[in-house]
Amino acid sequence: MSVAIIGAGVMGAGIAQVAASKGYQVKLSDRSQVILDKAYSDLSASLQARVTKGKISRQDMLSLLGNIELVVDINELADCSLAIEVIVENIEVKQSLFKQLESILATDAIIATNTSSFSISALARTLEHPERFIGMHFFNPAPILKLVEVISGLKTDSQVAHAIAELAEHWGKQPVHVTSSPGFIVNRVARPYYAEALKSLQEKVASVACIDTIMRDSMGFKLGPLQLIDLIGLDINQAATESIYNAYFQDRRFSPSVLLKDMVDSGLLGRKSGQGFYDYSDGASQQKACYLDPSQNSGPLKITVFGDLGPAQALVELAQAKQIEVSQVANERAFIEIGDTQLQMSNGLTASELAASNGHKNTVLFDLVSDYKTTPVIAISSAINADPSSVKQVVDFLHQLEKKVILLKDVPGLLVLRTMCMLANEAADTANQGIAEATSIDLAMKLGVAYPIGPIEWAESFGFNNTVSVLHNIHSSYGEERYRCSPWLKTQAIRQSFA
Ligand code: NAI
Repeated sequence: MSVAIIGAGVMGAGIAQVAASKGYQVKLSDRSQVILDKAYSDLSASLQARVTKGKISRQDMLSLLGNIELVVDINELADCSLAIEVIVENIEVKQSLFKQLESILATDAIIATNTSSFSISALARTLEHPERFIGMHFFNPAPILKLVEVISGLKTDSQVAHAIAELAEHWGKQPVHVTSSPGFIVNRVARPYYAEALKSLQEKVASVACIDTIMRDSMGFKLGPLQLIDLIGLDINQAATESIYNAYFQDRRFSPSVLLKDMVDSGLLGRKSGQGFYDYSDGASQQKACYLDPSQNSGPLKITVFGDLGPAQALVELAQAKQIEVSQVANERAFIEIGDTQLQMSNGLTASELAASNGHKNTVLFDLVSDYKTTPVIAISSAINADPSSVKQVVDFLHQLEKKVILLKDVPGLLVLRTMCMLANEAADTANQGIAEATSIDLAMKLGVAYPIGPIEWAESFGFNNTVSVLHNIHSSYGEERYRCSPWLKTQAIRQSFA
């Protein structure tokens, strides 16, 4: 089977490498021989480096390269049974190429696009046979990342979707079926990861380094959200957000960030421009997270635990292991009493709101973490009227458990809890609209952007009812439509309550 790949840039060359490595005959095409020669020599050099490191044999490299033919004249693609378009992200240019391909290829050949933002149905509009047109969305770097979103437009034949998914599997990839919709799965569901960090930065919840440290070290994300935007490019991230926001007719859920736009407009584009949220120039000082220092006193000798702390019960076990005396009291509301301070897990309301409703001014909240036993860091916030000694008591306690502490501004849902609930909410709405199955959404987020856990899987383990209630509290605190809860989550909460 011959595969045509049109566009020999970053993605096209990567996809050609994937197909050729599995023994497929690839015709790699671009606008000029010069571009093609450059793509081929870059690929040869990167393969040669792998041979030198002993990762692949010289024979494998030669047979892979031997499977790639460089083609400038598009008419030479006529015998290919699949054409994958990987050219510039411009709808008119892409549509004109599809028309040309349709006139050259056999009637049963499949035409696929690697577009990251356009509707598959809209791209197919000018085709005579839109049923053979499909999205085949690889992730960068294509030879390494396993995920391929197989995206069906309104007219795509389901047999075509199955054939492409099967092919992706032959190429060693994990396909997930998606119905064409703005951002498909990954680019849409990931929006809150960036949006909540940007909103937090704009509201001065914490510094850049603190936000990234908390998301990485306490929740297990590989890269912090701001660090990741720097890597992607602030302009690319802004364009992706705006495109999804506009495609959903300015749904506030996807509101772009004023702060990000301002940075883009001022030329701060991230790593590629030398500065974004971090400074990449030579000799620039490294931004570091600031942790609260413990006081001279050793921490509390005893604490009282009210109610069931759920996953945070691990803190109590750690306290016992450190010889802290623990008394347990059955109670509806769960918190740890340290001296005259009530330390409670965030439930989406601010510490100040909780202090007011509980009539206890010395209220301190702690954020979600993936594992309270092993996390090296925990974020906290304190109520507006709390005595300064409250935060000290909590820091001394957590230090005894060998946890570093970052103080956040007192905002609804703090940072990790809010982000995880919003990721779950977006994943839920994606499932609710039938764009993909819940399991495919989780898989896509883990493989496409290396999330430590699928957002729906996380909501299930945290409790769908808890997720709904946190979102409800954040929504009531902020009064912003952005935090409205997906009906899918509410239904899952009911299902889980009967299970
Ligand atoms: P790129 O700019 O590296 O490469 C595009 C290539 O297409 C260039 O070599 C250019 O000469 C060629 N080209 C442009 N118009 C052409 C035409 N009419 N006929 C033949 N060749 C033409 O771009 P990149 O990053 O490889 O992106 C390509 C596509 O993949 C875009 O649709 C993009 O949205 C999508 N994509 C990009 C990802 C990324 O991380 N870069 C990830 C997933 C999808």
